[in-house]
Amino acid sequence: VKALLKPILRAAPLQPFALWLLRQRGGAFNKVHPFDRAHGVDTSGLIPAEYLFGDEAASEATVNAGCVPSAVRAALQTIPDLEGASFLDLGCGKGRALIAARAFPFSTLRGIELNPTLAAMARANGVRAARKTPKGAALEITVGDATQPDLPAGDVLVFMYHPFGRPLIERVCARLVDFTRQRSSRIFVVYENPVHGAVFDAAPEFTRWFAGQIPYAPEEIGFGPDTDEAVVVWASAAAGRTPYDAGGRIVETKPGWRVEIR
Ligand SMILES: C[S@@+](CC[C@H](N)C(=O)[O-])C[C@H]1O[C@@H](n2cnc3c(N)ncnc32)[C@H](O)[C@@H]1O
Repeated sequence: VKALLKPILRAAPLQPFALWLLRQRGGAFNKVHPFDRAHGVDTSGLIPAEYLFGDEAASEATVNAGCVPSAVRAALQTIPDLEGASFLDLGCGKGRALIAARAFPFSTLRGIELNPTLAAMARANGVRAARKTPKGAALEITVGDATQPDLPAGDVLVFMYHPFGRPLIERVCARLVDFTRQRSSRIFVVYENPVHGAVFDAAPEFTRWFAGQIPYAPEEIGFGPDTDEAVVVWASAAAGRTPYDAGGRIVETKPGWRVEIR
């Protein structure tokens, strides 16, 4: 039944129905996250890649699920002078990380998302969030492959929440390394659940800025599968020396799906 249903549910006109159907399965990710209530948006739900993409793209992607907002906030709080910088979410899904980033003084908030239905939801969520909380930059969402992004001028913070497998992370890293050679402004990479963080650890153009196992905020417990979340931040040389002890080991606790900082 699943094999028959999948191609039907992947068809663009049926995607909103497919997304609704998948939400009915229950589980922590499918409950309405308190973030959605606070911001008047709809960013909850867990969607396996096989319902979002054709077989080839699905084999390279993980799932759609919203980030842990407190983990994103904790990572962003480690970075000084964000005024005027740009936030770029590679695989922005329904836009939860972008909306969390509205609380920081970014001048642009951009997201790239391969699935057009999710991208449309991110746009709608951006409008709803701005209606509820006018302060913060507007969301700019592009439909497309996020692995060869163009970076805005100035300081850029590239965010990823375990969006895809190692070959695609390698492609992103190579692209960002090229940018570090072309510009003198700062590039930070914030990687939540950095399953392929070894790729950035191996790039001499990036050094660790921060690494932590961040506890969920009390109100987030029960709305994700765990109670804490790994986040690692890397920085280009222009960022200078980190004041943090960022040396924790990235340990795979659920192969291909979850890592922890030890
Ligand atoms: C784990 S979700 C993260 C959602 C969002 N960043 C957040 O934190 O709330 C990963 C997202 O990456 C998207 N994705 C996977 N492969 C992609 C690609 N090659 N280009 C752009 N988006 C992709 C998926 O559709 C999914 O929405």
